[in-house]
Amino acid sequence: MPSTVVILGTGGTIAGTASNPADNVGYTAAQRSVADLLAAVPALRGQAIEAEQVAQLDSKDMDHATWQQLAQRAAFHLARAEVCGVVVTHGTDTMEETAWFLQRVLAPAKPLVLTGAMRPATALQTDGPQNLLDAVTVAREAGACGVVVVFAGQVHAAQDVRKVHSYRLDAFSSGDAGPIARVEEGRLRRHRTWPVGTPLGLARIAFEPASWPRVEIVSSHAGAGGAMVDALVAGGAHGLVVAATGNGSLHNALEPALRRAATAGVPVLRCTRCAGGALVGVSDAMLPAAATLSPWQARIELMLSLLAGGG
Ligand code: SIN
Repeated sequence: MPSTVVILGTGGTIAGTASNPADNVGYTAAQRSVADLLAAVPALRGQAIEAEQVAQLDSKDMDHATWQQLAQRAAFHLARAEVCGVVVTHGTDTMEETAWFLQRVLAPAKPLVLTGAMRPATALQTDGPQNLLDAVTVAREAGACGVVVVFAGQVHAAQDVRKVHSYRLDAFSSGDAGPIARVEEGRLRRHRTWPVGTPLGLARIAFEPASWPRVEIVSSHAGAGGAMVDALVAGGAHGLVVAATGNGSLHNALEPALRRAATAGVPVLRCTRCAGGALVGVSDAMLPAAATLSPWQARIELMLSLLAGGG
């Protein structure tokens, strides 16, 4: 039975430090190494765990080169016979984007678990060590698979998870779908089956990240117009995502510009700007609907689809 867990560090608040332990917001992210984070969890001592630093950044600055490297390192370790699962420590701000990217590229048969913290490692009551412990529990769970986010005792599927709060410790939600499971004192209480997917594969992203298609996000809102869309197309955007109002509706002054973009060969994917729900009964060949995807997931989806034609 494989029993090794590999923890890949990428930075974030979980690795952040503040000069004042009572300060939960005035800190610098990405200061402590992943080895230090592991050492701060006594319950993990003596377990078969390896730690590797892949990046050290505030996840607001996440980039495609780091995504490529992270996907390659995660795939490498997941393919090792002795490894049962991989954990990624990550900033919370773009965790849902990285989770969706990794799920679409790898959709691994073993668990690939993202976790982080809302409070820095120096906080009086930091959440990082418990989240890391729970993430390792999920990485060891028999039958677990795919990319999940483990946070504040909940296990969220990559397709459902959203950061929904700027400050609270339970900052993530799976919306209508609800979490897959909860981690309670080192044990999983499952609510539904583990989602499976078909991986696009590492070959899809084997291009120089600087050459990956540029997909931009625009939104429909009161007072919207087409100038932004026209400027993006003129500026060489390869694809557009529009965060539409409600069930995919678009401002009258914006829609013609999006149709012009699509006619000019710049694909446009439409999704809702609502925090929850899907686009229901929306069919438009020129401005196709991205169903349940958030604007940020849809951006990844369109970029990966454009990458099928090369970098
Ligand atoms: C980050 O996303 O890297 C900083 C914020 C956080 O981790 O909560």
